[in-house]
Amino acid sequence: MLKRVFFSMLLLAALTPAFSQQTDSRIIVNADQGEHTISRQIYGHFAEHLGRCVYGGFYVGEDNTDIPNTNGIRNDVIKALKELKVPNLRWPGGCFADTYHWKDGIGPKADRPTIVNVWWGGVTEDNSFGTHDFLNMCEMLDAEPYLAANVGSGEVQELIDWVQYVNHGGVSPMSDLRKENGREEPWGVKYWGVGNEAWGCGGNMTPEYYADVYKKYATFMSTWRNEEGIFRIASGASSGDYKWTEVLMQKLPPSLVEGLALHHYSVIDWNNKGPATGFSEEQYFTTMQRALHMEELVTRHSTIMDKYDPDQRIALVVDEWGGWYNVEPGTNPGFLYQQNTMRDAMIAGTTLNIFHNHADRVRMANLAQTINVLQAVLLTDEEKMILTPTYHVMKMYNVHQDAQLLPLTLQNVDYELNGQKLPAISASASKDADGNVHVSLVNIDAKNARTVSLTVRGTEKGSVSGTILQSANLSDHNTFDNPDKIAPKTFRGFQKNGDQLTVTLPPFSVVVLAVE
Ligand code: AHR
Repeated sequence: MLKRVFFSMLLLAALTPAFSQQTDSRIIVNADQGEHTISRQIYGHFAEHLGRCVYGGFYVGEDNTDIPNTNGIRNDVIKALKELKVPNLRWPGGCFADTYHWKDGIGPKADRPTIVNVWWGGVTEDNSFGTHDFLNMCEMLDAEPYLAANVGSGEVQELIDWVQYVNHGGVSPMSDLRKENGREEPWGVKYWGVGNEAWGCGGNMTPEYYADVYKKYATFMSTWRNEEGIFRIASGASSGDYKWTEVLMQKLPPSLVEGLALHHYSVIDWNNKGPATGFSEEQYFTTMQRALHMEELVTRHSTIMDKYDPDQRIALVVDEWGGWYNVEPGTNPGFLYQQNTMRDAMIAGTTLNIFHNHADRVRMANLAQTINVLQAVLLTDEEKMILTPTYHVMKMYNVHQDAQLLPLTLQNVDYELNGQKLPAISASASKDADGNVHVSLVNIDAKNARTVSLTVRGTEKGSVSGTILQSANLSDHNTFDNPDKIAPKTFRGFQKNGDQLTVTLPPFSVVVLAVE
């Protein structure tokens, strides 16, 4: 590593042209050295039966005449998520998944039993949004479904039946039942989570015990593979629980697992999370410390995985990530409804850069959660819907989906507060199928604009354009009365000289540059 940094410094010195002005930070993108693809699946989302994510967020009911919908799914939500290019959607939880019995959510809606959502607010749900509703909605979104199975309070047979119900094309009790319920062709669901947070709400298991449970479920699931095969994701570690990853990698036979999960939230303190808006710079700084910790987490979990899986066959799936604050005053504490500010844009921009730069191992991720819950991309209030700063970042960044990751060297500058330091600049770059290069840059510094000397070498492309997300205050956010306060704008803060750019990033801003 040190050797690499030293080499990078030499290279930087050699490549810095005489005209270059003094800048805070230097980046060299190597457009001719890409090896790995940034899987579009890292742009995934998460829809749990939690608060107003599913009910009121995605689904308003087929009989709703006030909110335009298609089969009960909000039209505004479908449009916004399609534009975002959501590649996959995880459902029905979360903690809820380990209480969910899928057969309660099929068949005539009037006949479905209710379920009390014991994890989230204790509300009674009528199961009107079930397997068909979710999978048909994924088809409308052009997103791959990712089903999280109930291991905590379910049975192996229940999961085998679910796989058979959604994936089997021939004659079988479950495929016949599916047809009776109006769906002839199987959906062909590839992604399956085998439990959720098995160390916590999924059953408080030890990794050794869960490994055995997992093997049993994974073995029988494979009986009902669809043609492309299923992708089984083992419940993974919470943040820095490296032992969990070590034990699972040691105990799970490679033939039974395709992905291993990791959950990490940017939370200041679980007992005192702080407000979602109107926070102090100290709170912002701590949130960013937690967010940037993702770099160490994916590095160390990947290193453990490399030991057992040197060919990197098993994906690291960060299927829950994002900022977690106190709920908005006056809302149900069990519903986890929070506003979304420029701080969240900083979390999104830096986290996605980290995922890109670890594209070899991080091949899927899911932001928690899509609508009205935690770091949402959409917020709804009855018939109104707004796009959050996080939505805008994910949309600006979607040019990286399935593009080739380009290695870069970054000489950084610090963002300092009260004697503590964080790297101010975060960056990643990729080359798309047409050879166009995209560089995403984040300046998390709350007070200072930062200049970056950016060299994109190894490409013939040279026409540069950019988009920026910025605002006057860190706490700024979109509201139902002012939905476009924060929106991407054309970025003009760069000067070009040959293959070198001098880019000025305003405080807490996200920029995506295109070199075409
Ligand atoms: O996303 C909210 C909750 O956080 C999920 O249900 C659970 O998996 C995690 O603890």
